[in-house]
Amino acid sequence: MKPALLAWKTNSASGFKVDRSKKGFDEYWGWLWVVVWGLCMVGSDTAIVVAREEEEVHQLWAEVEKLVEEVAPMVIELRRDIHGHPELANREERTARVVTETLRKVGVKEIRTGVAHHGVVALLRGRDPGPVIALRADMDALPIQEDTGLPYASRITGVMHACGHDAHTSMLVGAAAVLARLQDRFPGAVKFIFQPAEEGVPPGEKGGATLMMEEGVLEDPPVDAIFAMHVNVDLPTGRIGYREGGLMAAVDRFRLAIVGKQSHAAMPWVGIDPIVTSAHVITAVQTIASRTIDARQPIVVSFGRICGGEAWNIIPERVELEGTIRTHDPEVRRVAKEAFQRIVEEVAAGLGARAELEMYDYGPVVWNNPALLDLLKPALVRAVGAENLVQIPPVMGGEDFAHYAQRVPGLYVYLGAGNKEIGAVYPVHTPFFRIDEAALSVGMKTHCMVALYFLHKSKGSLPLGHGTTGRQ
Ligand code: NI
Repeated sequence: MKPALLAWKTNSASGFKVDRSKKGFDEYWGWLWVVVWGLCMVGSDTAIVVAREEEEVHQLWAEVEKLVEEVAPMVIELRRDIHGHPELANREERTARVVTETLRKVGVKEIRTGVAHHGVVALLRGRDPGPVIALRADMDALPIQEDTGLPYASRITGVMHACGHDAHTSMLVGAAAVLARLQDRFPGAVKFIFQPAEEGVPPGEKGGATLMMEEGVLEDPPVDAIFAMHVNVDLPTGRIGYREGGLMAAVDRFRLAIVGKQSHAAMPWVGIDPIVTSAHVITAVQTIASRTIDARQPIVVSFGRICGGEAWNIIPERVELEGTIRTHDPEVRRVAKEAFQRIVEEVAAGLGARAELEMYDYGPVVWNNPALLDLLKPALVRAVGAENLVQIPPVMGGEDFAHYAQRVPGLYVYLGAGNKEIGAVYPVHTPFFRIDEAALSVGMKTHCMVALYFLHKSKGSLPLGHGTTGRQ
């Protein structure tokens, strides 16, 4: 290309007469050169912008680390306060109040309260318009009697933060405190979603992620992506567990009543025994996992509650049972639910009793958007280091985060909070569950770094992936 370029330059700049036989050739190369030069300039401009953006993000990340250290004592105190005053699903009145007050104190001005009962949604608008990322925490506790012996253990009898939602909530308040200090340094906006009732609502009530969405949590301004974390004591503090695609199971909850006919325990033949019938039903539905579903597909059928009878010498009229079916594939889910209903009704009928079955859809698989995971990986690596970002197998637990992730690209990861030395080893939903509080800083850092990276790097909308269609 060079000789032609020189020829073109000489011809045009010097005003010499152009050799007509060479004109077409020279002009062709000349214009090509102009185009290439132009592209290079645009390219280098883009490269400069990207490099500047990258530098800005790295500076912000460094500041996040400093600010997280500053707010950490406040966040630990907040977490202990919330831990001591746990509230069940749809009853998170005090928690919401404490969250709102603390957000105001750390400089967050746009706060919406009373969303989906006690939900709190806060917004930090950056220096100019741009993408919007939502960070989400859940606030509800569980009906468990705490037995950790911690000085800040639950003061409420029979209620405990046994799933770490106290940590999620306080970590997110901490992240808001940090990002509030950097508000003029990022484009777009960060939405902080403090959601009630993740563990499921009391019968007859609405709540959780679906009600939050009905009440517009993903709108005004519209959310482009959503991110959340769950503490996990199987991972040591400082580690993050992630998975592309399906992370957590689709959850179905069932309520079942086996209705018989009451009689004296000494004369079972004059009644219909719902206790013996229940025993058969419970045993029979175990064949769904062992005989009906492909052994290579994950599935769980569990009963969590059985309740029937008043006295040792009376066969009651009814027994009530509750439980859950967990699956990772929509077809497995459909077949399992059908089989469950068939077995329950027909086993009960076969023994002369009647089954009343209600099924509740608690949500699809928690689907981690592959494009969003790709985009955010550098932020996760920066938060914990490449060696601490580990892939994990699918989980049979569920999360109503799945609903948000069906509407907008979502990413959900596990935040290591395990530490053998302090006894942070017991599983969630047990009276001994405790976390390593050092994980709170890691969580805050992760929230902030993810949010800042997304706002600087996200260009246009991400494909939603098949989490929204065939798979669910
Ligand atoms: Ni949980």
